[in-house]
Amino acid sequence: MSGRRLQAPKGTFDVLPETGGRRLDLLEVCRDRLRGYSFVETPIFEETELFARGVGESTDIVRKEMFTFEDQAGRSLTLRPEGTAGICRAYAEHGMHKRPQPVRLWYWGPFFRHEAPQAGRFRQFTQVGAEALGSDDPTVDAELVALLAAILGDAGVEGARLRIASLGAPETRAEYLEELRAHLRANEGRLSREVVERIDANPLRAFDAADPGTREVMRDAPLLIDRLAPDDADHFAEVRALLDEAGVAYEVDATLVRGLDYYTRTVFEFTSDALGAQSGVGGGGRYDLLVEELGGPATPAIGWAAGIERILLAAGEGKGGPTGPDLFVARAPGADARTAFGLAQRLRDRGIAVEMEQAGRSLKGQLKHADRSGARWVAIVGEEGIDLKDLERGGQRAVADAGEIARAVTAP
Ligand code: HAM
Repeated sequence: MSGRRLQAPKGTFDVLPETGGRRLDLLEVCRDRLRGYSFVETPIFEETELFARGVGESTDIVRKEMFTFEDQAGRSLTLRPEGTAGICRAYAEHGMHKRPQPVRLWYWGPFFRHEAPQAGRFRQFTQVGAEALGSDDPTVDAELVALLAAILGDAGVEGARLRIASLGAPETRAEYLEELRAHLRANEGRLSREVVERIDANPLRAFDAADPGTREVMRDAPLLIDRLAPDDADHFAEVRALLDEAGVAYEVDATLVRGLDYYTRTVFEFTSDALGAQSGVGGGGRYDLLVEELGGPATPAIGWAAGIERILLAAGEGKGGPTGPDLFVARAPGADARTAFGLAQRLRDRGIAVEMEQAGRSLKGQLKHADRSGARWVAIVGEEGIDLKDLERGGQRAVADAGEIARAVTAP
């Protein structure tokens, strides 16, 4: 029976042997940098309401990008488009406010958004994220921003640009948006039609407009950053001073817009020119009201997430191709398969990465394959005994058993 050759769904991708190693290396970088944070996992799907309430009904994510389905009992579930809402749900559900605060967590896993696929933008992608819940201290903000900067540096992302801003409190923002709308309406004649149409729904979009008329009007538009309440302004000033102290370079960008509704106070984003249109490598901010919004106790919190695929794209070709074995177990003609298999297992038990002949190659073919695989050593199992061959330095000698091979292979 033969059938149509199937393909991975649009916007998804396979991690192939050539790229798997780099992802594991990146996971290792994250694990190392995030030592003070506890690794957690939350479900890949959640109740749809979690994201509707958490991420916000008016965001693009909730309005048009969620993979939502009904289970057999008619409950509406959604493949998680982001991780913060699930973390807050788990924090409240498991009474984590009773632990020493802040609770520091990190995660790594798949996320899903129904976006138009392009380079660096997928429908299933992977995020690493870190969240600290239970403190509004500006040092937590600075610690998290510096952490992501360090991870991007270790991962080999060069020239990443960091922009930060503060959104203050929701009331400040609401008043500011009215002021901005009034400014736009007063200058309606000079704005592009698109901007005019969105004055009510999303006046902030006007800051991104490319047409000269709108740009001119925006040059003297009011900025939220100049309208912050005194305690929010002080908080933001302290975060900046702490970043200066830590030597983390940033630009204050008063028009920084994030695609999620839960942010308060600090927001930030790292971009890389290496990425083209989808330049966001990672970003995050404070969400001091979210845990409470999801039914938990009042809990100030901040976090970020970064796209694994985008980090790897921005870092360019790095180390970490397919990982070959340390040693290849070859079989000379007439050699017993069980002897070769037993030897391979005993070497694996000693911590050596072993591949054995399983494709019926000639001995010459096996040696060629071993060399290509990157293995330095070949143990040739023959009818009479075992020979150990060093492909790097040359030379071949008879050896007694797995112990003797292991000593040779692990010798400095
Ligand atoms: P976000 O900015 O929506 O934030 O996503 C974070 C990162 O995920 C982006 O910078 C990007 O690298 C990656 N990403 C997002 N969408 C895609 C996609 N379609 N394809 C590939 N990569 C993508 C959040 O998700 C917030 N939960 C961050 C946060 C944590 N805020 C507070 N705590």
